[in-house]
Amino acid sequence: MAEERIIVTSALPYAYSVPHIGNFVGSVLPADIYFKHLMMEGKDAIFICGSDQHGTPIELMAIKKGIEPEALADGMHHKIKGLFGKFGCTFTHYGKTHSEANRATVYEIFRELQRKGHITETESMLAYCNTDRRFLVDRLVEGTCPYCGGKKARGDQCDDCGRLLESSQIIEPHCTLCGGTDIEFRKVKNLALDLPGLQQKVEDYIKSASGNGWSKNAVHKSLSYIEEGLKARDITRRLKWGFPVAEEGYGDSVFYVWFDALIGYIGITREWDGSRWEEYWKKSGVKLIQFMGKDNLEFHTLVWPATLIGADSGFILPHTIYVLEYLTSRSIKFSKSRGVGLNMENALEIMPSDYWRFALAHLMPETADSEFSVEALVEVVNNIMNDKIGNFVHRVLTIARAHRELLQSEITIEEREMEEMKRILHGYRDNFDKIRMREALHSVVELADMGNALISARAPWVTAKEAAGNSKKEEEFSKTMGTLLGIARWVGILIWPFAPDSGREISRHFGMASDPKISDLYEKGVVDWGVELKPVFSKMADKEREALGAFSR
Ligand code: 2FM
Ligand code: ZN
Repeated sequence: MAEERIIVTSALPYAYSVPHIGNFVGSVLPADIYFKHLMMEGKDAIFICGSDQHGTPIELMAIKKGIEPEALADGMHHKIKGLFGKFGCTFTHYGKTHSEANRATVYEIFRELQRKGHITETESMLAYCNTDRRFLVDRLVEGTCPYCGGKKARGDQCDDCGRLLESSQIIEPHCTLCGGTDIEFRKVKNLALDLPGLQQKVEDYIKSASGNGWSKNAVHKSLSYIEEGLKARDITRRLKWGFPVAEEGYGDSVFYVWFDALIGYIGITREWDGSRWEEYWKKSGVKLIQFMGKDNLEFHTLVWPATLIGADSGFILPHTIYVLEYLTSRSIKFSKSRGVGLNMENALEIMPSDYWRFALAHLMPETADSEFSVEALVEVVNNIMNDKIGNFVHRVLTIARAHRELLQSEITIEEREMEEMKRILHGYRDNFDKIRMREALHSVVELADMGNALISARAPWVTAKEAAGNSKKEEEFSKTMGTLLGIARWVGILIWPFAPDSGREISRHFGMASDPKISDLYEKGVVDWGVELKPVFSKMADKEREALGAFSR
């Protein structure tokens, strides 16, 4: 049977600000950890992500700064891409939506949708600010959400309840440019995706695909929207920045940012490899596994499959849609919209990326919102990363080096302990298969716990002292150390998807130069005595805590 092929995607971050750590843990980080796991398993997989460059905020920001939107969006794209690199993310391609490859894909899909009768025309009332003399599309208008009563609902979506909106539904709207309320509603036409016509097919698709490991929220929310009945969704906007709509009567319009962002998954793959992208997107049996935060749910479970089903151009549909909940914080500010927030850039000034990756994975909001606080971070860094994992590896290597003459460099693990390690490994892989990364990380901690318990129970430093001239003790020491070194080596391999720099550093002590594979676990391990021994992790000191405190609410 042919090797299974997989596309992993993370929601494409908007290119108008540096993602905050809540954004990172809600999409790119889980996708990257999952992709690294697939690499360890030797799968034929690619990881696609990139900057979502269109939309109202970029156009406005560019107006305010007096530069071209494209220059602004490209500048941010490079900055964000660089930051993901610093966070150890290994995309197959981190592209962008404003590319020729995406433009071509957007037009092709639009034409197919049109040809097959899935594009309709809608008439709606659009907010127009009499002060600014312009249409207030999307987030240029804000007010109260008609569904949940949230006060910060925007013309396109309410962030509190995640519902998509039309600006005319907003209660007590005001203009976000001038803050005024001198707003009138004017009749405008838009091109729209005929979701009512595609609803049955989308429903059938969700019912058949959602058994493939979809997160519960993705299934339940989507089916409840379907039950309410889908409405046609506008795919054009009265803006300048974006891909122009080449249709009569739409000279002043571009495609809506979400239309070309979703198609961007394909466009970015095509940008990566213009001749191979179809081997991924148009070949049956390829598994598309998509990660995103819950504010992106409706677009991915309804609009996106409807676009692909409607175009009917042979594209695969998402296999797994994995929707993460929110990382919340009552004590630390994330969002930039309310002053300075803890984002991916300033986080790195506090601690190296592995600390963030590990701690955020430990707090990952997989099945429910999860609360981030200085205390929670300190707990993970000091008690788990430093005390349980780092200290274990460091102690084992220190003892081994002190009594090197009693050891061979080849590692042998005792049978009973090996059985226990295999049990932990089974849990680790099973959790990854079920996309429960937080649980998989617990298996790594469990392995270190096992090592720590063994080191305490056997006290190898005592046996080493007794070993002089005592061959039984010498043998006992070398058996214990073989097992402990074996556990440390496994920790280095299995921690890699979560904390790649540290995983690589630990693995260097065991003579491994390249990114680890699961199959390496069963290779004969060796110790490289020549590698300089340094602590794997260190505790968070007052300095780091204070630096974090600067982001307190
Ligand atoms: O919420 C966001 O950050 C969006 N830029 C996600 C887009 S996902 C995909 F459609 F591109
Ligand atoms: Zn205004």
